[in-house]
Amino acid sequence: MKKYKIASIPGDGIGREVVPAAIDVLHTIADVHGGLKFQFEEFPYSCNYYLEHGKMMDDDGLEKLKNFDSIFLGAVGDATLVSDHISLWGLLIKIRREFEQVINLRPAKLVKGVRSPLVNPKDFDIMVVRENSEGEYSSVGGRIYQGEDEIAIQNAIFSRKGTERAMRFAFELAAKRKKHVTSATKSNGIFHSMPFWDEIFKEVAAEYPDIKSDSQHIDALSAFFITHPDKFDVVVASNLFGDILTDLGAAIMGSIGIAPAANINVNGKYPSMFEPVHGSAPDIVGKGISNPIGQIWTAKMMLDHFGEEELGQELLNTIEAVTNDGFLTPDIGGKHTTAEVTEQIIGRLKSGKVAIGN
Ligand code: NAI
Ligand code: MG
Repeated sequence: MKKYKIASIPGDGIGREVVPAAIDVLHTIADVHGGLKFQFEEFPYSCNYYLEHGKMMDDDGLEKLKNFDSIFLGAVGDATLVSDHISLWGLLIKIRREFEQVINLRPAKLVKGVRSPLVNPKDFDIMVVRENSEGEYSSVGGRIYQGEDEIAIQNAIFSRKGTERAMRFAFELAAKRKKHVTSATKSNGIFHSMPFWDEIFKEVAAEYPDIKSDSQHIDALSAFFITHPDKFDVVVASNLFGDILTDLGAAIMGSIGIAPAANINVNGKYPSMFEPVHGSAPDIVGKGISNPIGQIWTAKMMLDHFGEEELGQELLNTIEAVTNDGFLTPDIGGKHTTAEVTEQIIGRLKSGKVAIGN
């Protein structure tokens, strides 16, 4: 019996609605499979926790979370209780940084039955690998003088280690997909860091002769996400470029409610963290209509991370079978509830009707 120990942090708002739904789905997968068990331990870290304890997590919170195989997070944030920068930095960013989750992974895929805002979306299926620890998001730099002489300097940090790490990750991933990696660059405009990025991309690409590789400038690449999203497989990008591209990716999927994300620790020292792209959605909390698919899809990414890729694929096929049959929450144009969509997914998993690779 294979056992995975998972720390769940439902967090705030609809995190408390979609995390239990996704946990039910994972338990169903384990039951159907027979040789697998997911052991969840819930942590109450949230804005309510902050009100009670004056902090977003225990002082030894990271110490506790460290020993799990992964962290399964809902959403954090309730600005009526705690300001967003406190809740974000006190929990999410702390975990991402301290646990060296240096890669952020976000798929952008056309989901059957969900309307993309694109007129002719074709059948796109992209995975963006975003470098998540350095690049343009650094605190190096400063400001000098005041008034009309004021100057701000913002430095970007690109290390060979961090860049190679993200690129290798992208090629390894592409080897299991359609064997194509596209690098997001801007070496025609950015003088030092992007030519360096391109050089390393060429070096790493040479290690993977079976995988097709190309480079696109980020401005053109953004346009291609709209005009030809079906031309891409894996896209590797720096922190800033990846941030922008992945929001664009979620947008062409049709709703933030279905978009998943993974923060990956690649050195194996700490757990990775799986969370949907959306936040706590205070405008719909308690109505029973939050879309559980973003959270359930993060469970698929967690299965992939555990090496249970067939199960992950089966789960994604099941999600698509349900959306394709019109079981949709209001954010994607339907009338169904969180519970109904979850029941449909669970029911199909139990009946084993959705074949792998469908
Ligand atoms: P949001 O993602 O919570 O909501 C944006 C819009 O999308 C809302 O209209 C909401 O109803 C809708 N939506 C989001 N998820 C949905 C789902 N699963 N099903 C149906 N509709 C869904 O972003 P917003 O409103 O900017 O932020 C609300 C709170 O969440 C803030 O406190 C913010 O800081 C926090 N937040 C947390 C994130 C995280 O935990 N990673 C990410 C984004 C925001
Ligand atoms: Mg963003």
